[in-house]
Amino acid sequence: MDRSVEELLKDSPVIQSPMAACTDLPFRLIARERGLAFSFLEMVSAQALVRDNEKTRRLLQSTPQDRPLGAQLLGCDPAIMAEAARIIEDMGFDWLDLNLGCPVRKVTANGEGAALLKEPDKAAAVFRAVKGAVKRIPVTVKTRKGFEDESGDEAVAVAKRAEAEGLSAVTIHGRTQKQGYTGRSDYSAIGKVKAAVKIPVIGNGDVVSAQDALRLKQESGCDGVMIGRGGLGNPWIYRTLEGVMRGEETPAYVPTVLERRETLLKHLEYEVQYCGERQAALNMRRITVWYTAGLPNNKPLRAAVCRTMDCGEIRRLIEDFFAALPETVPPPQAPLLLGE
Ligand SMILES: Cc1cc2nc3c(=O)[nH]c(=O)nc-3n(C[C@H](O)[C@H](O)[C@H](O)COP(=O)(O)O)c2cc1C
Repeated sequence: MDRSVEELLKDSPVIQSPMAACTDLPFRLIARERGLAFSFLEMVSAQALVRDNEKTRRLLQSTPQDRPLGAQLLGCDPAIMAEAARIIEDMGFDWLDLNLGCPVRKVTANGEGAALLKEPDKAAAVFRAVKGAVKRIPVTVKTRKGFEDESGDEAVAVAKRAEAEGLSAVTIHGRTQKQGYTGRSDYSAIGKVKAAVKIPVIGNGDVVSAQDALRLKQESGCDGVMIGRGGLGNPWIYRTLEGVMRGEETPAYVPTVLERRETLLKHLEYEVQYCGERQAALNMRRITVWYTAGLPNNKPLRAAVCRTMDCGEIRRLIEDFFAALPETVPPPQAPLLLGE
């Protein structure tokens, strides 16, 4: 057995969540260089992985510095999930998570993602098949508090089935599928799951500050915190959160304007290096939005980045934008939580 969930959580009580089209290799390298220890890469379809789809393989690219690293599978067919799980383990990932939380209609219509919350027997069959296929690494599940039901009982049922099938931990995002990303993550529902199982419970949803992480830990009793949108454009947040989760008095780290400029430029450099010039130019459209959330006069920069496929020009646009900023600006903000 590789490192257990308990050991990984002890070293790293703050985990970057899997986020489609966000948590790619450049994102993770930038985050790790500034304090992130444990990260997930985005969900991949078990079907596509088993078919050896080239795009899916590319989503799984990593480097030796990009460790420890978890992969996440999406699917509902036990045999295919088991085969995909074996591939993930053979590729050397440290942790395998099963996605039972994706709320997207196209996914749930296939019986995948959050749809499995309504089918605990089917979910248990997937857990059993995957657990039987994986020999060394921990297998966990990430889900929501319910499909439509607000009580948290559906998450409790799935967590109990996960525990019974030998899974190592559960992560709960305290929203229902129906809510999507509206409303607030319900930390008491996460606490309900924590009270119902003995395996570690990782809490998730709306953590963008040390206070949020503390409140999530105190209200739910969770064993670790998973952060999603709060890490976009704010790779300094992990160190602050790690500190508070260990009970230290860690003042929030506020990067200087120069650091923010250098970090965005480094992110661009990694994008070009690992994704190629064309894909990098496309990815920079959203990455620029993350790093400039809440900064004055960000709209012309964002519009100009969207008009070019030339990464040299994107670099110049970023340099000019930061050169024109006033000395004091608001600290990094969570762009997708601002609705940007
Ligand atoms: C753009 C985007 C992509 C996401 N992709 C995934 C994914 O691939 N797998 C997953 O389990 N959750 C995914 N999520 C959900 C997040 O991991 C997380 O559970 C959710 O955003 C709540 O946490 P937060 O408030 O810290 O962002 C995604 C969320 C967003 C906004």
